[in-house]
Amino acid sequence: MKTIAVLPGDGIGEEVVREGLKVLETVAAVTGFQYKLETYPYGAEHYLKTGETFPDSALRAMKDHDAILLGAIGDPRVETGMLERAIIMGVRFGLDLYINLRPIKLYAEHLCPLKGVTPSMIDMVVIRENTEGAYVGLGGIMNQDTDNEVAVCNMVWTRAGTERVIRYAFELAEKRKKQNRVTLVDKANAIRPMDLWTRTLARVAKEYPSITTDHAYIDAACMWMVKNPDWFDTVVTDNLFGDIITDLGAMLQGGLGIAASGNIHPGQVSMFEPIHGSAPKYQGQNKACPVATINAVLRMVDFLGETEGSQLVENAIAGALSTKKIPSLRAGAMPTNEAGDIIVSEIKAQAKS
Ligand code: IPM
Ligand code: MN
Repeated sequence: MKTIAVLPGDGIGEEVVREGLKVLETVAAVTGFQYKLETYPYGAEHYLKTGETFPDSALRAMKDHDAILLGAIGDPRVETGMLERAIIMGVRFGLDLYINLRPIKLYAEHLCPLKGVTPSMIDMVVIRENTEGAYVGLGGIMNQDTDNEVAVCNMVWTRAGTERVIRYAFELAEKRKKQNRVTLVDKANAIRPMDLWTRTLARVAKEYPSITTDHAYIDAACMWMVKNPDWFDTVVTDNLFGDIITDLGAMLQGGLGIAASGNIHPGQVSMFEPIHGSAPKYQGQNKACPVATINAVLRMVDFLGETEGSQLVENAIAGALSTKKIPSLRAGAMPTNEAGDIIVSEIKAQAKS
């Protein structure tokens, strides 16, 4: 019996998570696995009521689960970034979820803003390092609001941290059996300490003779992702760079309405989330697109070892999008619950056939 922690969070989080859980329930029933849910209240409402963001007890509670499903965090009533840092980054760092797995796959041609790009041309996965880089919080502000103000933010990479994420990339490239290539995205020309990434990639690559390596500076990688997205298979990169290029990647596959991620520590409790934010202006209106959260559920089911289930969800998403039963991934294109219902019926239809 798997146990799953649910953190709906803020804004549209609750609405999209509801649809994600509907899909989870369907796929579990169809393929016959069992799970237990426990919902946690952390987010803006909870903070405004209690003054608590994400206490140590919450982090400890997360460890009693096999996986965590997160909706969205962020609320205009709360200081910028405070809840995001406490909850999203609190879980990533607190549980040492060093892989941020962000698949970028186009399921239907009309969803891609690029001309002449077909689904077979966009199937890559970005592995974003998730526990180091600019996100470690090493730095600060001195002489704030004076003419002598100084702001410092250090990007931190360790040999061990770099090696483990790069190793994961090679393992995944082998498993994917696509182009058998790992592309390192860095900025080692201008930021020389990033040479650690270059050397680590070269060293780890020797253990994976069937995988070729490739390299692109982050600025060029942005260009290539638009110009020749079909060149990418498995990409590994730093935390901040990965954050940025996966929003670009999200657009390649149809937008934030579909992009999802897994925050993973192999073999330990891991967290799955849509990569979009809480979109407060759509809260409670049944307008948000739930496909990104359903895509996160797909990743979670796969992580839990239910590969038949994750395949069903993926086929259902692909089916609903390519037939235009879900015609668009934009907010307001169709009611949130109806989009969830469509995926549910696709799963049931597939299970019968
Ligand atoms: C993401 C988000 C987060 C990040 C924010 C909300 C802290 O943009 O998951 O991509 O920067 O990692
Ligand atoms: Mn982001």
